[in-house]
Amino acid sequence: MELQAAIKERKSIRGYLDKPVPKAVLNQILEISVRAPSTKNTQPWQFYVVTGAPLAQLKKANEDRFTRYEAPPAEMAHTLIEPEKGTVYRDRQVDIGIRLFNAMEIGREDKDKRIDWMKRGFRYFDAPAAIIIVGDKSSPIEWTYLDAGLVIQNICLAAVDFGLGTCIENQGIMYSDVLRDIVKIPDDKRLVVAIAIGYPDDDFPANKVISPREKVEDVVTWCQ
Ligand SMILES: Cc1cc2nc3c(=O)[nH]c(=O)nc-3n(C[C@H](O)[C@H](O)[C@H](O)COP(=O)(O)O)c2cc1C
Repeated sequence: MELQAAIKERKSIRGYLDKPVPKAVLNQILEISVRAPSTKNTQPWQFYVVTGAPLAQLKKANEDRFTRYEAPPAEMAHTLIEPEKGTVYRDRQVDIGIRLFNAMEIGREDKDKRIDWMKRGFRYFDAPAAIIIVGDKSSPIEWTYLDAGLVIQNICLAAVDFGLGTCIENQGIMYSDVLRDIVKIPDDKRLVVAIAIGYPDDDFPANKVISPREKVEDVVTWCQ
């Protein structure tokens, strides 16, 4: 597939077929993706690929924690930050939420359906695999997030080429203590983000949502 087509085709997938992704495919995606550039070639990323029984355990533990409305550990406090009210960033966040809820027929006041939707995120959208991206705490945090972002986008694009869908998600790492416990992520690693990955269920309503983008002319300044 052409790169431009893959970039345009990629979108967050929040409903998956009950079909495992071969380990060889996941490995190939990572092999390609680690060609990402990084600050001073430090490659400050590591991956925990979770499937099968540990993933089932993780989904349940995350969902249980959310159901008890437990706050995430202090190291994950940033995952609760919302865009500032009155900014375009907040407007865009609200807009994508409305689009997803409309697609899923979740009403404004339907608290139970909204909670079920949140739970789905904590279950990695019922994907057959999740990739947890971590960095080393000895690396500057700015490098870690920027460099990890590059490898994360590579993973999402490479996945498209294999007919797979992905959803990058903070929800999947919010309860970091659960991940550290079940996936055995050491304390000297910083949890960056999770990627749910699997074969898209094309009939799942939220998968039909195309998130909008601002026009480039509104976000570019040409100095010439
Ligand atoms: C760092 C990051 C964290 C995200 N966390 C979540 C999440 O917790 N739950 C979710 O449903 N989507 C999450 N997303 C997906 C975004 O909502 C999505 O990328 C955005 O709305 C644009 O839509 P698109 O990916 O379909 O183009 C996250 C994306 C990024 C980059």
